[in-house]
Amino acid sequence: MRYEHVLESVCYIRKQIVGAPKAGVILGSGLGCLAELVKNRVVIPYGDIPHFPRSGIAGHAGNLVYGEIGGCPLVMMQGRFHYYEGFEMDQVTYPLFVMKLLGVEQLIVTNASGGINPAYRPGDLILLEDYINFSGVSPLRGGNDERFGPRFPDMSEPYSREMISRAERIAGDLKIPFHRGVYLYTQGPNYETAAEIRAFSRLGADLVGMSTVPETIVAGYLGLKVLGIACVTNMATGIATKKHAHEAVMETADKAGRRLCTWVQAILDERTAI
Ligand code: HPA
Repeated sequence: MRYEHVLESVCYIRKQIVGAPKAGVILGSGLGCLAELVKNRVVIPYGDIPHFPRSGIAGHAGNLVYGEIGGCPLVMMQGRFHYYEGFEMDQVTYPLFVMKLLGVEQLIVTNASGGINPAYRPGDLILLEDYINFSGVSPLRGGNDERFGPRFPDMSEPYSREMISRAERIAGDLKIPFHRGVYLYTQGPNYETAAEIRAFSRLGADLVGMSTVPETIVAGYLGLKVLGIACVTNMATGIATKKHAHEAVMETADKAGRRLCTWVQAILDERTAI
């Protein structure tokens, strides 16, 4: 990662905004409604930001949204970059480096996932407590710039216990039901086989998806506190009785997305009260 490139991106963004973000939010597929809750919104298309990757697929808007939720200044990624789209890992995780140099300290990352744990149902929200990187690649491969973080970053707490506790307390107050779980990351874009899902279950995975882990690894490396919330859009292959359809996945994400929005909004609001 070129430090100078990140600085140029940051300089451009700073010219468009007033103040500095404390939190970063990454929106998963179909979970874009959160962007509408941002007050004093400044929308910056990815294409306008020097060195920023450009996004493509349907259902993924490509904007950096700056503003406030509940008084908390934040920057939100409306649309993320996936490895399966052909982006390199340093492109997938480029926005995290930008967030860090903008001043972000805490990250909330959301996604749509397949449920492996039989206690889950489509539409359920899951607080991530750990991950399994089943992709075989790390976004930190290659030369290391110590200005960003250490060569061998610790990953014993990829999701902040403090943020998990806060999210749990708020969910209790708002009566939002949720589960906890371990997220397994595959490269995608194909869904898994039934044999893979049985294997992942034995490995300790509760849910499976094609995002989030590269961003979590880089955020941890950069010293950000991370909260991960997944929306179960379908039960995984072999557990589900039907074949997967992307449209049904998006529809479930859309419905559950409203609950997720309420939750994330309250979590961010609470931040300012601490
Ligand atoms: N597998 C992988 N990724 C997913 C799934 C799934 O079943 N559902 C939503 N994202």
